[in-house]
Amino acid sequence: MKRFFTGSFLAMCFVALALCASTNAHAATDICSTSAVVPTTTAPNGPTILPNIFDPHGPPARMIHNLSWLVLGICGGLFVVVEGMIFYGVIFYRRKKNDKNNADPRQVYGSNPVEIAWTIIPLLIVFVLTLTTVRTIRAVELTEAPKDALQVVVIGHQWWWEFRYMDASVPGGEVVVANELHVPINRPVWLRLESADVIHSWWVPALAGKMDVIPNHTNHTWFTAETEGLYLGQCAEYCGNQHAGMLLRVIASKPADFDAWLQTQVAPTVNDTTVAMGRDIFQEYACSNCHTVKGVSDGQFAPDLTHLMSRQTIASGVAPLDPTTLRAWIENPQALKPGCNMPSLQLDPQELNAVTAYLLTLR
Ligand code: CUA
Repeated sequence: MKRFFTGSFLAMCFVALALCASTNAHAATDICSTSAVVPTTTAPNGPTILPNIFDPHGPPARMIHNLSWLVLGICGGLFVVVEGMIFYGVIFYRRKKNDKNNADPRQVYGSNPVEIAWTIIPLLIVFVLTLTTVRTIRAVELTEAPKDALQVVVIGHQWWWEFRYMDASVPGGEVVVANELHVPINRPVWLRLESADVIHSWWVPALAGKMDVIPNHTNHTWFTAETEGLYLGQCAEYCGNQHAGMLLRVIASKPADFDAWLQTQVAPTVNDTTVAMGRDIFQEYACSNCHTVKGVSDGQFAPDLTHLMSRQTIASGVAPLDPTTLRAWIENPQALKPGCNMPSLQLDPQELNAVTAYLLTLR
């Protein structure tokens, strides 16, 4: 009976584990289908790396990946052994047709070798799992920045990401961008995670595990991208009606390319007089209350647009950044991202064209 319960318990554990794994797989598929609306051909260099925990491209993700295989392997082994013994007992020791004796079979109590074996083996397994898990957690959750790390402040907003490069190496002090995080390959990136409103979660599966982004509390996480490419991620904590539209893009490039990108971000705001009408509308209407364009407006509630056109997407990765989509977005943001905090300003077609033309100059 005891053996039956032990077997059932382990079998239940395994079923729970398998369910967990399949839920994650579903989550991954959903993210993939969400990201499918994002054009990925505009990635600067390298492939688009989907949100997949089984495709690690850096140290924390790889350590988590290795640990998950170890846990899956041990649990899978236990499942085969326990289920095998259950089936063996059920098949070979079932009541035979001509068995007239209704009494229980001979009961065996107090077998020292058996008692010792089923105490020692689980203890060893738990010991191995505990040690490897603790070791992985210690390596993944660092308490201070790795040496020479690029330091970036990540601020979660409903429903977009703000990145502030506060590193001493950033020319001119501070670079503020939204939704698309540029990093150099083979250099650790140390992220300070903060939230402007509710709890979000930073998750780029190919680079590192999830880390909560909590209001009034600072968390940290880190990763090192080993290969060039566009890494897709997703807010991983339900944070309101556009949680699914809070996508993440990490663009990892060669150090020289990263430096070149950084130079474009510290460059002064483009001031094109041919689009002055659009800029005036931007300043006079509510746009400037929420968006910063350096030297033009200093709103803090929405993405910094100073170098908008250096990005590939708008609305936190929900739509591609091209003139038609940008115009449609300004006309009615709710059509593209229902529930988002950007209102439609009811601009007439001429004003819409002017504002769109102005934004398109912000390189
Ligand atoms: Cu932010 Cu979910």
